Amino acid sequence: MDPLVTLEEGDTPLIPSPALSERTGAEVWLKFEGANPTGSFKDRGMTVAVSAAVEEGAEAVICASTGNTAASAAAYAARAGLRGAVIVPEGKIAAGKLAQALMHGAKVIALQGNFDQALALVRELAERQPIALVNSVNEYRIEGQKTGAFEVCDQLGEPPDVLCIPVGNAGNITAWWRGFREYDVAPRLHGYQAEGAAPLVHGAPVENPETVASAIRIGNPARWEDAMDAVTSSRGEIRAVSDAEILEAYTFLGAREGVFCEPASAASVAGLLKHPVEGRVVCVLTGHGLKDPATAMAQATSVIPCEPEIDAVEKAVFGA
Ligand code: F0G
Repeated sequence: MDPLVTLEEGDTPLIPSPALSERTGAEVWLKFEGANPTGSFKDRGMTVAVSAAVEEGAEAVICASTGNTAASAAAYAARAGLRGAVIVPEGKIAAGKLAQALMHGAKVIALQGNFDQALALVRELAERQPIALVNSVNEYRIEGQKTGAFEVCDQLGEPPDVLCIPVGNAGNITAWWRGFREYDVAPRLHGYQAEGAAPLVHGAPVENPETVASAIRIGNPARWEDAMDAVTSSRGEIRAVSDAEILEAYTFLGAREGVFCEPASAASVAGLLKHPVEGRVVCVLTGHGLKDPATAMAQATSVIPCEPEIDAVEKAVFGA
């Protein structure tokens, strides 16, 4: 594409997970998408979508978002010299993501409604105004995000047996399946939704989705059919995990593997722990833990206050 709007996204680490391998009996790897420039997998798709928007002469981009798409769209719009507008559910996005969208100079609109309403509204707005819609309903997003599948196959030297992935609006599972198909491989895709936001598991939209994993607080995924096709064609499954299971996986990854992802990302690991499988498994960790400090602080142990004296420090460090 010309010009190419890039922040050098992709090429993220595939990290072996000894602690999860021991717990599950499988050979577990973590694809750490939090290592992308804005801290989530969205960058893989946004480089293509924003480059296409520039090529097509757009002056502005817009998206609805639970936070990460907003951060990524804002960054790539800034990079391209386009105006950016993002519509997010008021009070329901993690602090880091909001900070990112604002720092990149996007117009941030807090909708008194949820993600599904925001997406319906931006789709309508994009019909009325000359503005490029960069949600994953945009094919360029899928084309970019499918590169995750290529990378995992290249990094392992062969495809995994199973890929575990969190599912919200269902663009990413759609993209990974497309990538695997283009590589002519077919690992089983195991998609995981949060229990309070699991329309694909229940087979019906959820009007008021709720979960601690704010990134996947979505009740009516835009890529519904594509996601179900990915699951059935790959002989995979789509299942729900509870908030408690998500938080347990989230804490375990941080404490035992040194890998800090955001809660939504940990849904892939929570799913694997709940439904163990055999063979070589890759869990996609979609976003960085630093994006959501509030959830981290609520889970972690508290800090220990200490006087600036050696005895006090010794007691603080070595005491029970
Ligand atoms: N994990 C994270 C960290 C996400 O931000 C998202 C989606 C997903 C998983 C699910 O991916 O929607 O393609 O099924 N975030 C979108 C956003 C909705 O607005 O940032 P999906």
